[in-house]
Amino acid sequence: MTTTLYRTAPGSEPPALVGRDQELAAIAYEARSVAAGEPAPPIVSIGLRGMGKTALLRRSIEDVRRLGGVVVSVEASDTEALSVTLQAGLERAQRDNASLPSRVKSSIDAVLRTLPRPSYDLPNDLGAIEFAGARQDAKRFESVLEDLNDEIRQNDKFLVFAIDEIQEAPIQDFRELVRFVHRTAGTNRPVWLLGAGLPNAREHLHEVRTYTERWRYFPIGLLTQQQTIDAIAIPALDNGVTIAPAALERLAEESAGYPFFVQKYAAAVWAAHQGDAISLADVDAVIPGVRRIIDNDFYDERFRVLTPREVTYALAMADLGPGPHTPNEIATHLGSTSAAVNSIRNQLVKKDVAFAPAGGLLEFRIPLTDRYIAQHRPILERRAGGSQLRAQSTKGVSHR
Ligand SMILES: Nc1ncnc2c1ncn2[C@@H]1O[C@H](COP(=O)(O)OP(=O)(O)OP(=O)(O)O)[C@@H](O)[C@H]1O
Ligand SMILES: [Mg+2]
Repeated sequence: MTTTLYRTAPGSEPPALVGRDQELAAIAYEARSVAAGEPAPPIVSIGLRGMGKTALLRRSIEDVRRLGGVVVSVEASDTEALSVTLQAGLERAQRDNASLPSRVKSSIDAVLRTLPRPSYDLPNDLGAIEFAGARQDAKRFESVLEDLNDEIRQNDKFLVFAIDEIQEAPIQDFRELVRFVHRTAGTNRPVWLLGAGLPNAREHLHEVRTYTERWRYFPIGLLTQQQTIDAIAIPALDNGVTIAPAALERLAEESAGYPFFVQKYAAAVWAAHQGDAISLADVDAVIPGVRRIIDNDFYDERFRVLTPREVTYALAMADLGPGPHTPNEIATHLGSTSAAVNSIRNQLVKKDVAFAPAGGLLEFRIPLTDRYIAQHRPILERRAGGSQLRAQSTKGVSHR
């Protein structure tokens, strides 16, 4: 018996990647166009944490490679210049593609030589050492990318950049890359770009260049009940274990189709199972323990540090249901005005409970926070301590 059938690590490819067939088909379709020399719009998967964006991106990269793509895959970071991140991605592309012709490999070397090397600060204000090969200018960078693209095309392959956590990509650097990708779209040697990121990625990309509006954005959300059941049942069946329908329904309900939770619950059930059948009772025995861990890791910590007024605000957000809401709606629900509760909203963002997926909107950062609130309502209301956020006493605060 293996205890690692399901995959709980961030970015891990699940044993059954369900519910993403349409996205994968669209990506394969566009990849074929690019391979044939027809430009395709960049595709960016957008969703909250743990929805499965990285898993989808990884599977897409495999598919694209099979179709002849040379994929430079990176995870953007706001603390690192994209050029430094790209360096690692290019080196990986060289390593991972054992079959790449040596001329493509030397073209990658040429690109690498134009990227700035990391510089190291010396102690006691002695300055910094910059390693050789600093990039001369953006033009030179673009021209070596062009050479690389030509070399790749001459070998009947095509160049693709895959960028995870795209909302973190430093705008200035990213602009150069986007400009290059867009310029090739007008040629018969288009370069393609795939991405994945949090809901604020769209706005971030808009700052990069207005034409990113015409990119395709795939919303990556919760799995349906049937997809969740498949995600859990198929890997077990492949390993000769049957899970009772009622047990699967219970797991689907408990995990609410949130891919991260789906893997967590399934992994716990799998670790505890004996024999070749899993019953509802087996599942019911495992659920409270997992729920406790999930509540603790995801929600309790965040909520524990909130002031009563912040809890009241979060309760109002939950009242309005899942998805983003405008601060105005929330304030109105509290019988207040957006300006009057602005500082509370900012604190919730600072404390990582809420975030702005797009200008003027507010959403819980962790999926299913509204369900957590519903399940812990009495405790949270007590913690809110009846704190009133009304601007003037016009309307009552409704929590129901
Ligand atoms: N389609 C899917 N079906 C079943 N499980 C999935 C699916 N997609 C992802 N998972 C699982 O869900 C978990 C989260 O996936 P992943 O890390 O890809 O999410 P993410 O959206 O990239 O999260 P983050 O924003 O934190 O990077 C992982 O355990 C992964 O194996
Ligand atoms: Mg991810």
